[in-house]
Amino acid sequence: MSVVAVVGAQWGDEGKGRIIDLLAAKARLVVRYQGGSNAGHTVINPFGTFRLHLVPAGIFNPDVVCIVGNGVVVDPTVLLAEIDELAAHGVGVANLFLSDRAHVVMPYHAILDRLEEEARGDQRIGTTGRGIGPAYVDKVLRVGIRMVDLLDPATLRAKLKTVVALKNQLLTRIYGAPPVDGDAIFEEYRAYGARLARHVADTGAMLQRGVARGENVILEGGQGTLLDLDHGTYPYVTASSPTAGGSCAGAGIGPTRLDRALGVFKAYVTRVGAGPFPTELTGTAGEALRERGSEYGATTGRPRRCGWFDAVLARYSAQLNGFDAVAITKLDVLDEEPAIRICTGYRLDGRVVDTVPASLAEFSRCEPIYEEMPGWRRPTGHVRAIADLPVEAQRYVARLGELIGCPVELVSVGCSREQIIVLGEVFG
Ligand code: IMP
Repeated sequence: MSVVAVVGAQWGDEGKGRIIDLLAAKARLVVRYQGGSNAGHTVINPFGTFRLHLVPAGIFNPDVVCIVGNGVVVDPTVLLAEIDELAAHGVGVANLFLSDRAHVVMPYHAILDRLEEEARGDQRIGTTGRGIGPAYVDKVLRVGIRMVDLLDPATLRAKLKTVVALKNQLLTRIYGAPPVDGDAIFEEYRAYGARLARHVADTGAMLQRGVARGENVILEGGQGTLLDLDHGTYPYVTASSPTAGGSCAGAGIGPTRLDRALGVFKAYVTRVGAGPFPTELTGTAGEALRERGSEYGATTGRPRRCGWFDAVLARYSAQLNGFDAVAITKLDVLDEEPAIRICTGYRLDGRVVDTVPASLAEFSRCEPIYEEMPGWRRPTGHVRAIADLPVEAQRYVARLGELIGCPVELVSVGCSREQIIVLGEVFG
């Protein structure tokens, strides 16, 4: 019985949702620990195809208690739409709980997200526009609205009075934008509180009880390590900590209770939004990978930038998170490649480096040093055992494990639940 953090190891979109949907069969609790509706976890299972933004990917298993943890910022409009969509597909949400301490994404956050991006001009981050950064800013400013406040009209009204005055100064004086209507926001969000009230709970206490009973727990990350506010490619990052370290604070659990960290890597790399990407493939090679992998943002529909596996970043991610094991997803997307490249180092101003520079200017100048492996040029979507993969594919997976420095426990060869090769027991 163990507590396992399932962490995005690259720039997000690694396929955490499909891995968690699978692992949830053996879990009792799944706790999302950071981010908000900027995430888009695609899950394809017998219930249908879903793009989950806030609801944990364990929701399809009726025995699993799903928690949206204190570290998440919750947009009630997105959450309610998601709950309705799940219900329309026959998926119940009686076991869905929201931390009373989670912060709420308010209408002025999305407006500010857009205005701040415009103001950055050619230095824009390429955010998802969901108001996530501004919601975390308010948390840090200590003017955030929390889920618990939505259940208490007097507190909500008092807090909104202060924060709306502040935001309207910003909107009108700095950005020349129209003000927001505090009374209308109060009525709208009080109603959301009433609708969500039965899901709001002290989820930290629920988690503690689960851990004390020795249940299997999954801590579900959003985004990925390279988008981490501290350790990612700053400033082209998200506003939270998707790393395994962040999972403890965002779920409400002590680091000594975390048993394992599973890193989820795509067999190649993608990135949405701006920022350096040393192994990016431009032109037709990148387009081919994007089409084969359906690499379009689950939240914004934006085309994802695609490139070869970067083992420098992968090792950085593995060390930072302390991964015990890894899952490699979307191996089948490489089925048609005649030759596959892996970046094992960078050339930076005439030197060879195998670490990730903090300086964005230096990271932008890093040129990948590649090793090349032969492709397998055969379909793999039907394979369920590692020994049945073409030998070139087996070697590629083994090489990734070696470079990352962790055992590979899962390999996915397609989107459906059964398209998975299991090499190890994630719950130990
Ligand atoms: P934000 O999280 O909307 O503030 O966006 C900041 C950066 O994180 C942008 O580059 C986004 O494209 C990226 N980002 C945010 N969420 C995701 C995700 O779930 N997958 C991939 N990229 C993401």
